[in-house]
Amino acid sequence: MILVTGGAGYIGSHACAALASAGHEILIVDNLSNSRRSVIDELAVLSGVRPLFVEGDIRDSSLMNNLFRKYTVKAVFHFAGLKAVGESVQKPLEYYDNNIRGTLDLLDAMRRASVKTLIFSSSATVYGDPERVPIPESAPRSATNPYGRSKLVIEDILADLYGAEDDWRIARLRYFNPVGAHPSGRIGEAPQGIPNNLMPFIAQVATGQREFLNVYGNDYPTPDGTGVRDYIHVMDLVEGHVAALEYLRNAGGLLTVNLGTGQGYSVLEMIKAFEQASGRSVPYRIAARRPGDIAQCWADSSLARELLDWKATRKLAEMCTDTWRWQKSAAMFNQ
Ligand code: NAD
Ligand code: UFG
Repeated sequence: MILVTGGAGYIGSHACAALASAGHEILIVDNLSNSRRSVIDELAVLSGVRPLFVEGDIRDSSLMNNLFRKYTVKAVFHFAGLKAVGESVQKPLEYYDNNIRGTLDLLDAMRRASVKTLIFSSSATVYGDPERVPIPESAPRSATNPYGRSKLVIEDILADLYGAEDDWRIARLRYFNPVGAHPSGRIGEAPQGIPNNLMPFIAQVATGQREFLNVYGNDYPTPDGTGVRDYIHVMDLVEGHVAALEYLRNAGGLLTVNLGTGQGYSVLEMIKAFEQASGRSVPYRIAARRPGDIAQCWADSSLARELLDWKATRKLAEMCTDTWRWQKSAAMFNQ
């Protein structure tokens, strides 16, 4: 059985779908602070088997110890955490507590139960403002906000742990920009309030929920002046996790890899691709740069290809079509 922390969330729920397809049994722990219980029903429909679900917090040590005693867990996929960059600047202690203490408590419970295989959600945010693109895993790391710092610190904690106890098998997966949704349209990204990220915002403009998109800056040193990112389909991303699990099983060790496509798209290219996929127009206005944003960021994805025999295959059109399918059903649900 695989324990999935944060398994009701955006990436965690897709990972559960991929794990179920690969024949794994799943136990989800999620405190539903940023997700809905109904995701579990959708996962049951998608995979034909209802995943075990426990509503709870990974910082609740007695709950976690009990779960590890009750179930035979082979590995942990650790998605639980807070992820909004701006909010992390306003609430640093909450972010450090949830992300760092949450991970420490999880590791403690795992060690007590001798469960020593962990797949951790890190982020391209650990590269800060990159010196060059594409970004290899060896690039210098830095943090410009508490969210990013929590990822840096957790990466270091995991390296220290592996340095001290080399029977752990740990993957630190650095995600670029996950977008898209399960092709069924049953699960997807459901941000609360005004979306921070580009793709969910574009999707809400396309449905008419929002009037226009603010494009944060068109004077960056990029081909059209708008920010460039490496958008990766969430299904590719989670398949990368399943490949990482397989890798750890065979090779063990401490694995650190980028999960990206290796290709960057600008904000204007994203708008155009979404308009084509949805048949709707996405009005936009050029606004000031968003504080803390970088000009461009895309992955050197060669290491994942070499070590995991995995690469992202879904193209931008599919990312947009799948987001649109999900957005339409989510909009209906919210009416
Ligand atoms: P999400 O908010 O949709 O999912 C996180 C889930 O964890 C939610 O369901 C939430 O309820 C749960 N959770 C939070 N704190 C918890 C706690 N203490 N105990 C139990 N459950 C808890 O976010 P996501 O986009 O699916 O991201 C998953 C992971 O991937 C996060 O660690 C995030 O930092 C990382 N990540 C995300 C992105 C991205 O762009 N989405 C990029 C890089 C890294
Ligand atoms: N953008 C807009 N308008 C919006 C939202 C975004 O123009 O309303 C632009 C941004 O300026 C940027 C691009 O769209 O150029 C992508 O922005 P996102 O907020 O979608 O993504 P970021 O690359 O800024 O950050 C995301 C996550 C971080 C994570 C990082 C790398 O939010 O947590 O990817 O994985 F660290």
